[in-house]
Order: sequence, then C-alpha cells, then structure tokens
Amino acid sequence: MLRRSKKKLVIYPKETRVKSQQLITKYCYKACCYVRLQQTTTVKGNSMDSLELLLQRRSVSRLTTPAPEGEVLEHILQAGARAPDHGGLKPWHFSLIHGEGLQRFSALLRQVSIDDQLDDKAIEKATQAPFRAPLIITVVARCQAHHKVPEWEQVVSAGCSVMAMQMAAQAQGFNGIWRSGAWTDHPTVRQTFNCQPQDKIVGFLYLGTPQFAAVSPVQAIDLGPYVSEF
Ligand SMILES: Cc1cc2nc3c(=O)[nH]c(=O)nc-3n(C[C@H](O)[C@H](O)[C@H](O)COP(=O)(O)O)c2cc1C
Repeated sequence: MLRRSKKKLVIYPKETRVKSQQLITKYCYKACCYVRLQQTTTVKGNSMDSLELLLQRRSVSRLTTPAPEGEVLEHILQAGARAPDHGGLKPWHFSLIHGEGLQRFSALLRQVSIDDQLDDKAIEKATQAPFRAPLIITVVARCQAHHKVPEWEQVVSAGCSVMAMQMAAQAQGFNGIWRSGAWTDHPTVRQTFNCQPQDKIVGFLYLGTPQFAAVSPVQAIDLGPYVSEF
C-alpha cells in the first residue's frame, strides 16, 4: 500500500496492507448496511425510513377498503414469517380472513355468542366485529415440545410476527390493529383455527386502509419509569 505522508512516500509492510484491506472491507460493508437502512420505502405515496417507522408505529382501528393484497400482502406475510424464532421452529400460522371469509367469520362469532347465551347487544357486536376491516389475519402460535425452546418463547415469537406484519402494513401505506378478546380462548373458535391443546391464538390482526390520516405525530415516551442502568 502506498500513502503520501506530507512529503515522502511511505511503503507499508504486507501485514499492515492485509489488515488495512480487512478494515476497508469491514467498514465498506457497514457503510452499505447503513445506507440500506437509511433507504426509504415508498408505496402509495408514503415515504418512511426504518427508524421513523418504528418510532411512529401506531394502531388504527377505523379501517376501510382496499385491503393489502398481492405483492403488498406477500410482503406483510414475509415480514411476519421473519419474526425472531429460537430454533427455527416457525411456531406460527397465519389464517387470512377476507372477502366471503369475513361473512363466515361473522356467522361463526354470532353462533358462538348465541350458544353462550350472550345478550342481544353482545350478539350484534360479535356479528359486526369482523367487518371492522377488509382483512383479518388470525395468528396462531403453533407450539411444539422442544428440548431447548420452551412454549412461552414460541408464543412470544408468534406475537413478534403480529407486530412485524402490522409494521410491514404501515410501511406500505396500510395499517391496522392487533385485537384479542375472549374469542382467542373460546373452544369453538380455537377448533375453527385447528388449534391443538398446546397452541394459542395470539391475536387477530385487523388490516386495511386507514379511514383518517393521523393528525399529529406519535409523541416520544418518557422512558424514566421503564429504563434503568444495571
Ligand atoms: C396481545 C394484544 C391484544 C390486544 N387486544 C386488543 C383488543 O382486543 N382490543 C383493542 O382495542 N386493543 C387491543 N390491543 C391493543 C391495540 O392493539 C393497540 O396496541 C392499542 O390500541 C394502542 O394503540 P397503539 O398500538 O397505537 O399504541 C391489544 C394489544 C396486544 C399486544
């Protein structure tokens, strides 16, 4: 390697050259990753970089058509399937409810409410619930006995997939809300989603197009009560 030091030309020994080359490779790689992270996602006129997406994540309950579909939906599902996952178990299953599926889900919740002898108001609420979004993704933690990965870790992984999918939706100009409720533990609902005794419905991710644009940015949280030095 040649380097000009003020006036004289310095020739470095071979070991230094190899080390320098390694450092250049390392920092070029880091720089590339950084540049990639800084890149913005632009879909449907929305532009959001990765950090802004994390800091500005918010749920939206007032949703309408269109639902994410095609490549956008594929990205959402891929993001869910990239959740952190100890042992590579992929302990999740995503069940898509849209189109006529929403009618079937509504009929199921209605029947469950009638069977449980809920009052008329609750039956109507259950019947209407699926129509709050054009797409619902039911996320089931499909747990298995594993010598290294306890069940709770598998449930957490499935939970991470819900958030990843919500964020992927937001990154592409859609949004939604993670809902749960008593139905997640209801035997008939569990049976409908093929839950084995060790499985857990971690939530219903309602997705669609926000009916209203957010009026203000998400405020930073006072971290005082939640963060400390060890
Ligand atoms: C596991 C889980 C279950 C949830 N269930 C519901 C629910 O049934 N109904 C609801 O309104 N919000 C529910 N939420 C909260 C919303 O998803 C959302 O986080 C909350 O409305 C706060 O909005 P934000 O995400 O914009 O902070 C749940 C959240 C989690 C993590």
